[in-house]
Amino acid sequence: MEKKTFPRTRIQWLWDNMKGKRFLFIVALFGTVLYNAFQLTIPFFSQKVVDEFIAGENAAANLANNRDRFLMLIGMMVGITVLRALVVYADCMAYEHVSQSVLYKVRNILFHKIEYQDMRFYNEYRTGDLMTRVTGDLDAIRHMVAWVVRMIIEAFSLMTATLVYFFSMNVRMTLWLMAIAPFILIIIRVFRIKVGPMHALLREKLAGMNTSAQENISGNRVVKAFAREDYEIKKFDESNRDYSETNQKTQMVWLKFYPYIESCANLMPVVLMVVGGTYLIRGELTMGQYVAFSGLIWALANPMRMLGNIMNEFQRFSAASAKDMEIYYSEPVIVDAPDAIDKPDRLKGEIEFKNVSFKFEDGKYPVLKNISFKAEPGQTVAIMGETGCGKTSLIHLIPRFYEPTSGEVLVDGINVNRYKLRQLRKNIGLATQDVLLYSDTIDGNIAFGDSHISKEEVLKFARYSQASEFIAKMPEGYDTIIGERGVGLSGGQKQRISLARALAVRPSILILDDTTSAVDMETEKQIQNSLRKLDFNCTKIIIAQRISTTKVADKIIVLKDGVIAEQGTHQELIAQKGYYYELVKLQAGEEVV
Ligand code: GTP
Ligand code: MG
Repeated sequence: MEKKTFPRTRIQWLWDNMKGKRFLFIVALFGTVLYNAFQLTIPFFSQKVVDEFIAGENAAANLANNRDRFLMLIGMMVGITVLRALVVYADCMAYEHVSQSVLYKVRNILFHKIEYQDMRFYNEYRTGDLMTRVTGDLDAIRHMVAWVVRMIIEAFSLMTATLVYFFSMNVRMTLWLMAIAPFILIIIRVFRIKVGPMHALLREKLAGMNTSAQENISGNRVVKAFAREDYEIKKFDESNRDYSETNQKTQMVWLKFYPYIESCANLMPVVLMVVGGTYLIRGELTMGQYVAFSGLIWALANPMRMLGNIMNEFQRFSAASAKDMEIYYSEPVIVDAPDAIDKPDRLKGEIEFKNVSFKFEDGKYPVLKNISFKAEPGQTVAIMGETGCGKTSLIHLIPRFYEPTSGEVLVDGINVNRYKLRQLRKNIGLATQDVLLYSDTIDGNIAFGDSHISKEEVLKFARYSQASEFIAKMPEGYDTIIGERGVGLSGGQKQRISLARALAVRPSILILDDTTSAVDMETEKQIQNSLRKLDFNCTKIIIAQRISTTKVADKIIVLKDGVIAEQGTHQELIAQKGYYYELVKLQAGEEVV
């Protein structure tokens, strides 16, 4: 996979998104240093207690004469323990707060980025993968802020403070203990090199599994229709097992390294016993100091043991943040021109294609070749042609879902790439071929493009699209909640709601992509009638296969392999005796012609 480069490093990126909480985060970091320092004071006090009151030369006398100091030292130990607990509590809360706020912020930005992406983006990314980015990946990032950073600071502050304290007591003893450090660093480095790619792989497997789950849930009807449940379950089981095994393998990597780290960590008390014991005998170390060394040696050994865990989590963060940063820094290609014209008014709806050719970025051949036609405001243009000839691709150029490879698409005489996208698209009502409704009420679905329209308007547009009758029969009329993607409605019913939705924005350009393919002839006729009597001016581009629809159009365009094969009115095309003529014969029977 190609390596993506970003303008900021991962840590800089985290820092950017911590804006507003950075101060709190730094306070939290200091809190971590503080409670670790507190932890070290305990052995400091116990060293004092041991040397002065238990094992020292004048221990018995001190205990008898200096009872107050003894009690004070004990009191300090208890007090600091309580204080430390409070600091730990506040500190955890602070990390949690900052991490949640980063999570919230980044998630919103990612969603915003995804929403504004081009059509091309949706061809490229799978839904399950995008879902993983806004859930699992983001959680790894939150974990980084809330836990990994804290652990790193904890390990470092503990080690640093301990070393400072150890050095202050006995330099040579400390150096002996530190002799192990270089080995640890080498081990951790090799571990990092080994485990990094595993985490990247693991993350891909998770996305794959999520995609499989998502596709099966949304495509469950197809699975059922083909009785493929068992097969799909088996397939999912495989990807689940694959994920689980990769997860285990990733964990196993650390297990391979752990014995070495553990041996190094265990070596420390041995070094202390041998070297420290010798120093004690020679009098270079007091008994209290020996107790302090021995009581604190964990503060060097434990961070070493934790390094593997920290590194694991860090690599998980690395893999996840790369995925999220890819979306975070992605930009749609089709955007407003810097000098886009501001045209808040309603467009007239004149459409012109001038020598337009188009090829999908990943496509081999051009889908549209040298298309030229014009639709005057208010006219109806019908587009027909066999499946795959490029009809949908053609109409997608009007709202600028894609840019033509060459030629120009003009609306009101101005190239569509000169408009502000929002203004252009606000003027277009589109009923797509593949109808997608939201899990909302019928009313909410019709008013999707303009949530401010009145109930009366919704009713009117439902009437226009011949939907009012069946809606009236629904259990709760317009308040009936339809399932995801319009579950609970027939194909033709969905198409009619989608038509009402397109009309409800009172567009100056109405584009219908095979919108009446699933409704009966009679209903379609009524729809055509109401489209002619709309109470607003509107140019209609209608992709249709039925002659009954195309017959009444001002212009019919017949596409063949991306080229305009025939163009003209019904009568003109019949006179040409070409494809259209054959189609009319086929659909209506020869006697009509
Ligand atoms: P029907 O809806 O079946 O009547 O076909 P259509 O005339 O609307 O065809 P459409 O414009 O959807 O597709 C024209 C050609 O472009 C076909 O050969 C498709 O395979 C191809 N095509 C459609 N969408 C994409 C895409 O996103 N990427 C690529 N590379 N090719 C596409
Ligand atoms: Mg199509």
